[in-house]
Amino acid sequence: MTQAALTVQDLHLSFLTDEGALPVLRGLSYTLSPGKILAVVGESGSGKTVHALSILNLLPPNARVDQGKILYQGKNLLSMKSSALRRVRGRKIAMIFQDPQASLNPVLTVGEQLIETLRAHKRISKKTARKQAAELLTKVGIEEAEKRLEEYPFQFSGGMCQRVMIAMALALSPDVLIADEPTTALDVTIQAQILRLIKELQQQSGMAAIFITHNLAVAAQVADEVLVLYAGQCMEQAPASRLFSHPLHPYTQGLLGSLASVERKEERLPAITGNPPRPGEILTGCPFAPRCSHALKKCFETCPPLYEKDGCKVRCFLQEGK
Ligand SMILES: Nc1ncnc2c1ncn2[C@@H]1O[C@H](COP(=O)(O)OP(=O)(O)OP(=O)(O)O)[C@@H](O)[C@H]1O
Ligand SMILES: [Mg+2]
Repeated sequence: MTQAALTVQDLHLSFLTDEGALPVLRGLSYTLSPGKILAVVGESGSGKTVHALSILNLLPPNARVDQGKILYQGKNLLSMKSSALRRVRGRKIAMIFQDPQASLNPVLTVGEQLIETLRAHKRISKKTARKQAAELLTKVGIEEAEKRLEEYPFQFSGGMCQRVMIAMALALSPDVLIADEPTTALDVTIQAQILRLIKELQQQSGMAAIFITHNLAVAAQVADEVLVLYAGQCMEQAPASRLFSHPLHPYTQGLLGSLASVERKEERLPAITGNPPRPGEILTGCPFAPRCSHALKKCFETCPPLYEKDGCKVRCFLQEGK
C-alpha cells in the first residue's frame, strides 16, 4: 500500500475559555491519499478551520490538543519541534486561508511577497526568484504578470487575490495543499473558475489537497473523497460519487436535500431543521439525534461508532450490521 499523504488519528481538541474547556473536535480520523482531493464539509462551527489549523500548529493560544496524532511521512506533526515544523509549513504542506485580503500583507507588493516566500526556502538569487514569481502568477491565470508583481494587494479584485494566494501556496511545490473555503467571498462564476484552477494545478503537480467548505455542491465539483463533519466528528466519509448518489447518513441526506439542484428536484429531501450543538454542549448519544427524523431511542443514549464497509464510513445505528 502506498503511504498516505496525511493521516489524522483520533484528534480531540478543546478551547480553554472562561466557561471551562469546550470540546470542538471529538475523535476526528481520516486518511488523505497521495494525489487525491478530500473535501471536508460541514456547517459553520463544525470545526473545519480548527482542524486545518491543527495540522500546521497554527492554532490560537487557548486551543488544547487533548488526544490524537497527525502523521506526515511517518512523523507526528503535533509533537514536532517548532524548527522542524517550520520546514514542513509552506514547503511540504501549504495552506490557503479563508480571507485572502487578510492573509496578504497590505504594505508589500505582490511581487515582494512572492519573492520573499521563495527566497525564505530556496537558495536562489533575487533575479531568479522574480522570474519564478512571474511564472507563478501566469500559472494561476494572472495576465501581464511582470507588471502585476509591482502592484499592492488592494489593486487586485477578490478573485485575483485568491489567485495570488494560490500562487503563494504553490510556490514551494508542496505535497499537500489545504484550502479553507477558498471561494466563499467570490461570486459564483469566479468561484467555479478558482475551483477549476486548483483542481487543474493539483492534477498537474500530483499533490494531495484538503478542500474545506460548507457547500456540498462545491465539494461535488472537485473532490475525490468527501468527509462530512458534524460537531467535530466524522459522520460519513466516502468517495464523492458514492456519497452524492447514495448518501447513507441522515445528516448527509439532509445536506444534499437542501442543495438547490434542478436534477434532484423530484427526489428532493427536506432541509434540516434545528441547529447543531453549541460549543461545549455535553453530548451523550449521537450529536445529530435531536435533528434526525430517523432517530431511535438508543441514538440519544450512545454515540454510534463509525461503521466501515467497502472503503466508506458512516456513524449511524441505522447502518449497523449492513
Ligand atoms: N479561539 C477560540 N476560542 C474559543 N472557541 C473557538 C476559538 N476559535 C474557534 N472556536 C470555536 O470552535 C468551533 C469550531 O470553529 P471553526 O472555526 O473550526 O468552525 P468552521 O467549521 O471552520 O466554521 P465556518 O464555516 O464558520 O468557517 C466553533 O464553535 C468556534 O466558535
Ligand atoms: Mg472555517
